[in-house]
Amino acid sequence: MSLKIAVLPGDGIGPEIVNESLKVLEVLNQTFGLDATWKEATIGGAGFEAEKDPYPASTQSLVKASDAVLLGAVGGPQWEALDKPLRPEAGLLRIREDLGLYANYRPTKVFDQLLDASTLKPEVVQGVDILVVRELVSGIYFGQPRGYEEFEGERSGFNTMRYRESEVRRIARKAFEAARLRDNKVCSVEKANVLEVSELWREVVTEVHQAEYSDVELSHMYVDNAAMQLIRNPKQFDVIVTGNLFGDILSDEASMLTGSIGMLPSASIGEEFAMYEPIHGSAPDIAGENKANPLATILSAAMMLRFSLNRADLAEKVELAVENTLDAGVRTVDLADGEAFVTCSEMGDAVCEALRKLS
Ligand code: IPM
Ligand code: MG
Repeated sequence: MSLKIAVLPGDGIGPEIVNESLKVLEVLNQTFGLDATWKEATIGGAGFEAEKDPYPASTQSLVKASDAVLLGAVGGPQWEALDKPLRPEAGLLRIREDLGLYANYRPTKVFDQLLDASTLKPEVVQGVDILVVRELVSGIYFGQPRGYEEFEGERSGFNTMRYRESEVRRIARKAFEAARLRDNKVCSVEKANVLEVSELWREVVTEVHQAEYSDVELSHMYVDNAAMQLIRNPKQFDVIVTGNLFGDILSDEASMLTGSIGMLPSASIGEEFAMYEPIHGSAPDIAGENKANPLATILSAAMMLRFSLNRADLAEKVELAVENTLDAGVRTVDLADGEAFVTCSEMGDAVCEALRKLS
């Protein structure tokens, strides 16, 4: 039976970068014995334009009937003035919640070929290999109550950062499991010196560690210190596990160790469903110009092959093809540092070519 992929290109550069990943999957189908088919649906601003809904019902049923979801990016200035529930970002938060994608894996790996692209010294970033495991469907993004109210005679806005112990336990397990396949180290990040929600987080992570994963090295760090340590000495980290908001911030910070956010893939995984997407946004300023870097999306497709389609062998081939393409000096403009560069589709072609050579 063929593997079914729901493809959600989304907005901005989304369609361009997704298209390059589909070229790669096509090569795998033709040459490497993958048997995958895909169907496209809208999300974000594209969903709003098509059906007045950033997560349309037709998309909901498609993703639930698929083995995996591949997403481009959502958002753009033309939708910023809409009511919050109609905005592209609301579609993204809803699909995460609807599919129960509580574990968000954001690997930050510094490619030797791109060492000079980082704003940090090469000796600080060379060899960095961090996995941020971000809780994705709870915390302050979803906590109730939230809203606006008049408070002591003036306007006020408020949100609630709440974690249940079951939510902390399941994400902690995912982080420890991931660490066992890597350097066996987990750093749990919170703000337990100030927040009750973080005290609970620390307590539960410690319990899970003692009961099930005492072979893994566990440390705890306050989020402000973690933000500083990521720049000071990023090589101290292996797996970082943290809540939704802190993970949002720290994963963007970690991504810049590599020099380009255009390189970083992600996986969002729940008990039943999984979604793969680059961690960068929809880059409306360069949309439609064939300039974007498709490598983060191609590497997201590799994560999909590994975690959802049970084809780690093909994931490795795709990752090797990307490395070989970089070794050959092929660069999109974000990586070019003033030197010659190729278009988005040329980069996709180069990876396909490198992949064919591995057959
Ligand atoms: C991310 C993004 C989203 C988030 C936005 C677009 C809602 O920043 O995936 O990191 O905050 O989770
Ligand atoms: Mg973010």
